[in-house]
Amino acid sequence: MTDLEGSISAARATWNRKTVGSQRSNSEAGTLEYFEQIRAYRYGYETPFIQSFFQFSEISGQRVLEIGVGQGIDGVEMARNGALYSGIDVTEAHLNLTRQNFANHTLPLTLFHGDLLRTDVGAPYDVVYSFGVIHHISAEEEYLRHVRANVLKPGGRLMIAVYSKYSVFNAYMIATWLLKGRSCRLDDWRSQVAELSEPGSPVTIKIRSRREVQRMLERCGFTVERYAKRGFVQAYVPIVGKRLSPNGAVLTALGSLLGWYHCFICR
Ligand SMILES: C[S@@+](CC[C@H](N)C(=O)[O-])C[C@H]1O[C@@H](n2cnc3c(N)ncnc32)[C@H](O)[C@@H]1O
Repeated sequence: MTDLEGSISAARATWNRKTVGSQRSNSEAGTLEYFEQIRAYRYGYETPFIQSFFQFSEISGQRVLEIGVGQGIDGVEMARNGALYSGIDVTEAHLNLTRQNFANHTLPLTLFHGDLLRTDVGAPYDVVYSFGVIHHISAEEEYLRHVRANVLKPGGRLMIAVYSKYSVFNAYMIATWLLKGRSCRLDDWRSQVAELSEPGSPVTIKIRSRREVQRMLERCGFTVERYAKRGFVQAYVPIVGKRLSPNGAVLTALGSLLGWYHCFICR
């Protein structure tokens, strides 16, 4: 098995067992309430910056391909804003949930199942969007080069968010790993904490500085147009955190220093 096949099979095993964000809902999977609870947590608490940073309100009429669709929450939001949306994922459970989420809103949808490098996705696209995914792919540079050469229109945009090394959440994972006596590899521990993977079966997980990610993007032929570091939640601030607005000035400023996501818009 190649590294890429290994990372895809680990992703499938982890997210087919427990779909991303499903712990945020106590409703039956696939129902309107189920997606609404996951959406409320995503945009109301954990990552409220997504729609504004990635300018979903200006996406009308654009052909968008999302890599790694999850529950289809961002996809539905883009489609509601008029995007001509397609998605690709390797995890059957995520494709099924995304299909259900779009059906609940009677929105049009095209989905592809499999590895982007071996799938005809009906290119070209105006936008390739991928939130919290590229860092789980062992051959991410190959993916990015393929996106630039074969998936995006000339002048099209790549919009991604990836994990940040200098972040409270990464410090928390390292501290808890040290406290627990380093009984497994750090990457395995981080995968268990961040992705809820089974002990001993981690997904690929790369956690890097802004400079490391930006250099990789440039090596793959992209020019960064917009960057922000975000992802600092109320729970990180003891006592007064609950009083701070999830998308307000204080948590945004803290996020720009120690947030969990590097967000990039590139040409
Ligand atoms: C952490 S989840 C993020 C999902 C969603 N973008 C979100 O923010 O909730 C990672 C997603 O990437 C998908 N994934 C992992 N490797 C992939 C690959 N090589 N190609 C496409 N999707 C992949 C997983 O199946 C999963 O849906």
